[in-house]
Parts: sequence; C-alpha cells; structure tokens
Amino acid sequence: MTFKKIVLIMAMHSEADPIRDALELEEMDKLHPSLPMDSYKGKIGQTELLLLVNGVDPRFQVDSIGTQPATLATFAAIQAWQPDLILNAGTCGAFKSKGAEIAKVYWGNKVIHHDRRISIPGFKEYGVGDYPVFTDQALAQKLEMEFTTISSGNSLDMCDTDYQILDQEERVVKEMEAAGIAYVAELMQVPYLGIKSVTDLVDGGMLAQDEFLLHLKNSSLALQQKVLALLQEISIK
Ligand code: ADE
Repeated sequence: MTFKKIVLIMAMHSEADPIRDALELEEMDKLHPSLPMDSYKGKIGQTELLLLVNGVDPRFQVDSIGTQPATLATFAAIQAWQPDLILNAGTCGAFKSKGAEIAKVYWGNKVIHHDRRISIPGFKEYGVGDYPVFTDQALAQKLEMEFTTISSGNSLDMCDTDYQILDQEERVVKEMEAAGIAYVAELMQVPYLGIKSVTDLVDGGMLAQDEFLLHLKNSSLALQQKVLALLQEISIK
C-alpha cells in the first residue's frame, strides 16, 4: 500500500534529526506562531513527506515529550496538511524478558495507555484507548520488524501498577506519545502507523534515564534505518 502525503510525527530532535538530514528535508514556517513544533518537508518519489517535531518547550527549554504536545501536534498537522497517513516514530523502553534488545525496532499493532486507570463503568475502556492502527504483516516481515503493543504513559519511570499492566501484554514497549497521536488520528479518520526503537530495558537493572541517554544515539540511528526503508516501501515511485 502506498500513500500520497505522509506526516511523520516525532517528539525529540535527537530522534528526528538523523531522518531529517538523510532525506534533506527543508524547514518550513511554524504551523502556528505560539506552538513549539518544527516543520520540515520533502519528497520521496511522488510522495510528499512532512515531518513535525514536537519542538522545544518555550519555558522549560527541553523537547516537548508526552501525550499532550503529541496530541496538539497531530491535530495541527492533520488540519494544516490533510495527510493520508500519520507515521509516528520514536524511542521506547521494552522488556528483556519479552525478547527486547537495545536498538531493536518494533511496529505497533496495538496502541494503549497504561496510566489512565479509571474504574468507573464504561470509562475503563476509554482510559485504555486501544486505538486503530495500520499494519502490514508482509511488509513488517520484509523490513524485519516484529509487531508489538505500544503503551503510552507520561512518566519515564514505572510504578508497580504500570509494571503489572504492561506485563499482561505478550510483547510491549513503553513510550510517551503514541496513544495521544493515535487518538487524534482515529477522530480525524487518518490511518496511524507507529514504529519504536528501544533505548532502555525496563527489567534490565539500569535506571531508565541513564540507559535512555546512553543508547539514544544508536537507537535513533536504528530508527532512522527502519523509517527510511519503510518510507521507500510506502511511497509512490
Ligand atoms: N522512551 C524511551 N524509553 C522510555 C521509557 N522507559 N519510558 C517512557 N518513554 C520512553
């Protein structure tokens, strides 16, 4: 399957810059003067690619990670550009006990929240989300990517309850944007495709923040390779 206009949404510049540089994307004006998101454009064959990086928070001067900026970015991007695919790429934590390794890149076949626990009838499922995702089994095999559940939460660390919820999934990665993006994609009826590269093993014995910073560069390069290969496959020649 190919797409005419793809919006790639990424949270951090360190994750996005290798892709932006490899594709020689050109910087565009901001989507809105008050929003921190940075916009870039380019072409892959006949397909238009727009990259939106969530940008630097104006007050805290760090990358705008988390589901709130991701949701805002997705809405602004869909409204401005009307893509036929939302591609979301980023880094994640994963379980060694479920076969994960540093810099392994996964394709999400399920997207949930693990930090929206609402034990009121009807609200439980709303909290979990379980948003629709775009998958292609043959393409995932060709690109050597395994499918996984992508679970979003707004903390880098993990409490016991998070651990219990995540551990119920056969295969799972933990990150901070996918569910916010997939939520908007569903509302706006644009397919969502998420791929995530492992920076840290949540059951590996190291502190997430230390392991994340240690592997951010090589994990982002592994992500770049898969994103470029994927874009080749889903763009119009
Ligand atoms: N991104 C990379 N590693 C992560 C983790 N352990 N938790 C949440 N987001 C992450």
